[in-house]
This record gives sequence, structure tokens and C-alpha cells, in this order.
Amino acid sequence: MRKLIAGGLVAATALVGASGALAQQKDEDFVKYRQGAFQTIAWHFGPLAGMAKGDIDFDAELAQRNAERLAQLASMPWEGFEGGPHDAGDGHTHAKEAIWEEMDKFEGGAEKFQQEVDKLAEVAQQGELGPLRQQVGAVGDTCKKCHDNFKED
Ligand code: HEC
Repeated sequence: MRKLIAGGLVAATALVGASGALAQQKDEDFVKYRQGAFQTIAWHFGPLAGMAKGDIDFDAELAQRNAERLAQLASMPWEGFEGGPHDAGDGHTHAKEAIWEEMDKFEGGAEKFQQEVDKLAEVAQQGELGPLRQQVGAVGDTCKKCHDNFKED
């Protein structure tokens, strides 16, 4: 019992330590984080888009795995936009100011993206190319729409 409590204290201290570290995140960390999250999303979306276009062979297992991962990843980039552009002036961010001026619209785009990847994960379980292709298209539209409005080329 005593050991358990002591363990709990250690865990609590570790958490406090972690939130301390959070407060120290620099502007460039926010930019790196959100770009990294998008790179990871693109890594998983790429093969699905390739299958949909017929550029690579349909692989039902890979499609299912990547779609499931995308459903998880879709919630991740957004905390990197919290608290402002975090533009360190080094030209690294391609995020437009419009994000913070029209946050509702941006968040709406993020929600729509999440809905479409959730659906993609469901569709991928069927193991058929036809419906997968269609849903990959729907997801791709949400990427494009948000980039058109909120991302510099
Ligand atoms: C709701 C908005 C939104 C959605 C949805 C979205 N993106 Fe983005 N994406 C952005 C913004 C904003 C940036 C620019 C981030 C920055 O440079 O700070 C970005 C950047 C990127 C980058 C460049 C990352 C880098 O290293 O600079 C890639 C790749 C990318 N997105 C891929 C995707 C793909 C693929 C999808 C869909 C499967 C997608 N995005 C969906 C808003 C979005």
C-alpha cells in the first residue's frame, strides 16, 4: 500500500514536471509540432491516395491500418495552432493569419476532416477498392479545402 501511494506521488510529480515543460515550449516548437503532425498524416494518406488513383496496387490490410491511424492522427495538429501563429519570422510556417481571424471556420474544417477520416476507417474495413476510392476522395477534398483557405503554397 505504502509503495502504491509513493508511486502515485512520483507519477503526480512527473505530471507537474511535464506541464512545466509545456509552458516552456517555444514558438518554433509549435510550428515544428503541427508541421510534423501534418507530415505524419501525409505519410499515411499517401498510399491510400496512390491506391485510389491506381498508382499502386490495392492492399486491403495496409489501407485498413493507415485509415485507422489517420482517424487517430486527425485530432493532433490543432494544438499546434493554439495561442497564435507562433511565427518566428524565419519563413518556416505556411499557416495563414486567416486561421486566427476565422477560427470557427478553421475548426469547422478540422471537424469535417475528422468525420471523413472516421468514415474512411469504417469503409476500409470492407476491404474493397471501390468504396475506399470514393472515401479517399472525400478526405482529400477536406485537405484541399482547408489548404486553399488557410495554407500558403
Ligand atoms: C483544417 C485545416 C487542414 C486540414 C483539414 C489539413 N491541413 Fe494540411 N496544413 C494545414 C495548415 C494550416 C498547414 C500549414 C502549417 C504550418 O506551416 O504552420 C498545413 C500543412 C500541411 C503540410 C506541410 C507540412 C510541413 O512540413 O510544412 C502537409 C504535407 C499537409 N498539410 C498535408 C495534409 C493532408 C494530406 C491533409 C488531409 C489528409 C491535410 N493536410 C489536412 C491545414 C490543414
